[in-house]
Amino acid sequence: MQKLMNMNTQKLIDTAIAMVAGDKGLLAIDESNPTCNKRFAKLGIPQTIDARRNYRELILTTPDLGKYISGVILYDETIRQQKKDGTPFVKIIIDAGIIPGIKVDTGAKDMAGYPGEKITEGLDGLRLRLAEYSQMGARFAKWRAVIAIDAIGGDGIPSRACIEANAHALARYSSLCQEAGLVPVVEPEVLMGGTHTIEQCQKVTEEVLRTVFNQLFIQRVILKGMILKPNMVLSGLNCSKQASVDEVALATVESLLLTVPAAVPGITFLSGGQPCELASARLNAMNIRFKSQLPWALSFSFARAIQQPALEIWQGKDENILMAQKALSHLARCNLAARRGEYSAEMEMEMEKI
Ligand code: 13P
Repeated sequence: MQKLMNMNTQKLIDTAIAMVAGDKGLLAIDESNPTCNKRFAKLGIPQTIDARRNYRELILTTPDLGKYISGVILYDETIRQQKKDGTPFVKIIIDAGIIPGIKVDTGAKDMAGYPGEKITEGLDGLRLRLAEYSQMGARFAKWRAVIAIDAIGGDGIPSRACIEANAHALARYSSLCQEAGLVPVVEPEVLMGGTHTIEQCQKVTEEVLRTVFNQLFIQRVILKGMILKPNMVLSGLNCSKQASVDEVALATVESLLLTVPAAVPGITFLSGGQPCELASARLNAMNIRFKSQLPWALSFSFARAIQQPALEIWQGKDENILMAQKALSHLARCNLAARRGEYSAEMEMEMEKI
């Protein structure tokens, strides 16, 4: 076993480095069918396998996607799909110079004994599924844990039990991924919904990350061959005092410096429902202020903050594909600029002119 790990190690490290190279970032198009359908329903798009396929084809055939995006995270349905002309999606991704990845958890379920909290499932049979995905061309995987903060209830949410159970699952998933030659993207998401302050978010984020890295160590995960996908440290969506862009940048980097080992090559934030411009501005602020002092790359792995405008423009109609692709490409470019600390409000105006 250990020998197999050694053979794999360099490949894992090379892939992880490539995932954050060239100031590019990851694009998550791994919404489960229920989540994708919910987003389609809001816009009156039919919730069918065909519509989901068409939408993913629109995204993957966006011109120049590979200039801004290093890796794409697919969903089980999507990794098996093809373009209308029969070209497999995985081939389109690889031909664009992008690394294919796959979401492998089976969703966050209610946690027994802990009302209001979730535990992510999907470990049973994971070894076999990873082998299949690897054969299909995936080179990395993703597993998302969700941690809620309840600032009003006062009944201890998040509980230690929820944090530990999710961290343990993330570590076991990561270890299985590395055995299969796939880079684990480790996503412990502290949710932004709620009335909590940025200080409360910071405290919970630090506790979660400390617990996650402790579990990764226990499960012998090779830190150089993984990517961390955390939340930014934010004020709760309904908190009366919203932290500024600079406060978010400072709190987030402070928390990461306290908890994430330098061996990890890259940190790719989720967007978590932040408006697109704010997600880019906050990433930009972190890179302007701290990039030269940080051991890891600070990058993005956004779903909504890159896709949402494109989805709203498309509305399921062929005649809107071109405009939707322009919006997607524009946001991918904005986030590449944010990695360089070169994102600006003027960049947003460029989109308005398109
Ligand atoms: P958002 O950027 O929309 O939060 O999605 C990222 C993701 O992959 C959630 O698992």
